[in-house]
Amino acid sequence: MRIVADKITFTYNRKSKFATRALDEVSLEIAEGDFLGIIGHTGSGKSTFIQHLNGLIPVESGRLTVGETDLFAGVKKNKKQLKNLRSRVGMVFQYPEYQLFEQTVFDDVAFGYKNFFPEADKEEIKAAVFGALDLVGLDRSVLNRSPFDLSGGQKRRVAIAGVIVTKPEILILDEPVAGLDPLGKNELMALLHRLHKTSCKTIIIVSHDMDEVADNCNKVAVFSEGKIIKVGSPKEVFNDYEGLTALRLDVPITEYIAMKLKEKGVYIDTDFSSEDFVKKLVDFYKNVK
Ligand SMILES: Nc1ncnc2c1ncn2[C@@H]1O[C@H](COP(=O)(O)OP(=O)(O)OP(=O)(O)O)[C@@H](O)[C@H]1O
Ligand SMILES: [Mg+2]
Repeated sequence: MRIVADKITFTYNRKSKFATRALDEVSLEIAEGDFLGIIGHTGSGKSTFIQHLNGLIPVESGRLTVGETDLFAGVKKNKKQLKNLRSRVGMVFQYPEYQLFEQTVFDDVAFGYKNFFPEADKEEIKAAVFGALDLVGLDRSVLNRSPFDLSGGQKRRVAIAGVIVTKPEILILDEPVAGLDPLGKNELMALLHRLHKTSCKTIIIVSHDMDEVADNCNKVAVFSEGKIIKVGSPKEVFNDYEGLTALRLDVPITEYIAMKLKEKGVYIDTDFSSEDFVKKLVDFYKNVK
């Protein structure tokens, strides 16, 4: 499913004196198969934007198409249409583990399924829960445990399982690795790549971690003050140290080192992923020798 946003604008508390313009004519195309990174300073509109993509926030003005579903301003969707969309566009909120509430892991993941398919029978639910648990790499032995007794990383996997249990084609995650330790971060990103290869065709992450975006995304959108100010490959977006730091954004460590090397007369032509950066550096070293 392709996503096309065309000049979407959104204002919180529109009719009050506390009105806040959160999105200002945002246009973006997300192709099927993209692994998109959304970056931008705090309050730039990232979370507001992604919540439009499964109809959680109705389009105020502009046009938004998700697959064959039109979410245009003024066009009301009925509950059934929205449910269908949300089963196909999964949304994992920031710190999703805080939303676990059932007594067992099984019930928590099953809730995600029953919510969308209330008529499903026991066998169908069981198959869906087992499938989701396998996809997130959790052992079935956790199924009867309380989600609250698991580690932080495991809880997050349970929460993700509760979203991918409906097999969404598009998976959106708001700061998926926030608060995890370095190993937990790597494991979670590996999980997202596995999902991207097997079950969720399109993945969209909101992130403040530029290394993570450079290493994992094929496309990056930069938000600032409710607008998208740049879209492109990590190479196109990150190759602008001054521009990004002026926006109060970090750059990937690879870009920082590449910039320092350039000051010393060494130019490394890289896409800023750590793998490519190391390869290019080794090539350079071999050529010099
Ligand atoms: N529920 C709300 N009510 C009123 N204003 C809101 C609400 N949610 C967000 N805003 C405002 O809308 C703007 C965009 O917020 P949003 O949460 O989309 O930013 P963000 O880029 O996700 O920020 P962060 O990186 O901090 O998560 C901000 O000015 C914010 O204060
Ligand atoms: Mg946010």
